[in-house]
Amino acid sequence: MLRLLGAGDGPLRLGGLEISELASEFGTPLYLHDGDLCLRRLTALRETFDGRVRILFALKANPLAALVSLLRGKGAGAEVASAGELRIALAAGVPPEDIHFAGPGKSLTDLRAALEAGIGTLDLESPDEYEALLDLSGPRRPRIALRIDPESALARAGLRMGGTGGKFGIAKEAARSLLERISKDDRVELRGLHVYAGTQCADAAAWTTLALDLLETAARLEAETDCSLPDLNLGGGFSFPRDEGEAEFDLDLVAARLLPVLERAPPGRRFFLEPGRWLTAPAGLYVCRVLARKESGGRTWLLLDGGLHHFAAAAGFGAVLRRPPEVVSVERPLDPGEERVLLGGPLCTPMDACEPAHPLPRLERGDLCAFLGAGAYGLTFSPVRFLGHPGPAEVLVAGGKARLARRRGRPEDALGDQCL
Ligand SMILES: Cc1ncc(COP(=O)(O)O)c(C=O)c1O
Repeated sequence: MLRLLGAGDGPLRLGGLEISELASEFGTPLYLHDGDLCLRRLTALRETFDGRVRILFALKANPLAALVSLLRGKGAGAEVASAGELRIALAAGVPPEDIHFAGPGKSLTDLRAALEAGIGTLDLESPDEYEALLDLSGPRRPRIALRIDPESALARAGLRMGGTGGKFGIAKEAARSLLERISKDDRVELRGLHVYAGTQCADAAAWTTLALDLLETAARLEAETDCSLPDLNLGGGFSFPRDEGEAEFDLDLVAARLLPVLERAPPGRRFFLEPGRWLTAPAGLYVCRVLARKESGGRTWLLLDGGLHHFAAAAGFGAVLRRPPEVVSVERPLDPGEERVLLGGPLCTPMDACEPAHPLPRLERGDLCAFLGAGAYGLTFSPVRFLGHPGPAEVLVAGGKARLARRRGRPEDALGDQCL
């Protein structure tokens, strides 16, 4: 990850700018995002698939409007999972027709917002959701797709969201009878099928098998029912290595197996991918300052001004296997370090602590450290309200310039939306 950020000798930089200067300017704790790196990854992904797939950025990985807007500038659409994320995508300039909405339990507020915006596709996850949509749609003709629950689970995925008898998607047989109903219903426009089976998938061959399975399912359902399925969304979930020892997700393998099939697709067929983590994870840092250093039970603790409430993943939340986070000293990022320390945040729970994957150079009160790989499922996946600490600032760096993308929270936010 340090390599992707372009770390060399000397203090850590992001997008060419010195992190210690950004920390002085914007304060800590601070999220920093390298927008140029995200754009390079978007372009690389598109090129890997010869421009044959449309990329929808999954906002759940990082709903920072300024970053979504930057990705939109290079043609990315959006995958959203709530009326809130939909608002962010629209505010970031993503045209409604380039927005897909997926999620296993969409509220009436969600459905209404999607209808009002006239989005590209609502991925339906149950027959009841179809009924709920019809109850609301009136004269509008929503574009819909069915999220298919694959028959088998995704191998080597961090979290599985399909093929497990879980809450996601519609089983193939149920999808078939629903499609038969939909094909006779001109109140909706049927666009196609969608599959998403899990996140942090490290097995490119298994991922491709499920994608090919969706293509076959589409061909079979078109042959068996009286409907056409022009749009096929193959999902996302590509892993990003969390440390140097882990292999990159093998996108070339996916392309080698998928491209020949995509090339033979009937005219009018459109393909989508909806990655989140892969595009943004390595481009983000969570930067904290050491508040105190102390010894306890024979161990050295560094107490930081940030913690689990901003970056829960570092403390192992959301992972099936808890893994130590990659943390570096901002002043000496490549220094192999001599100290095994424990890092603790300000929350009154022992869970707000972690042991970094590697030793650190000695850090003192006032020094800065940076958590790597914080560009996906960082702030958005954290219990930010716990104990009423203010949210961190977020800064987007692009074209050699840093700009505030989310203002730092204030203590008064803790009372903010409450009624006395
Ligand atoms: C429906 C859907 N699409 C896309 C994503 C993004 O996945 P990832 O960030 O692993 O690429 C998710 C993640 O949970 C999802 O549920």
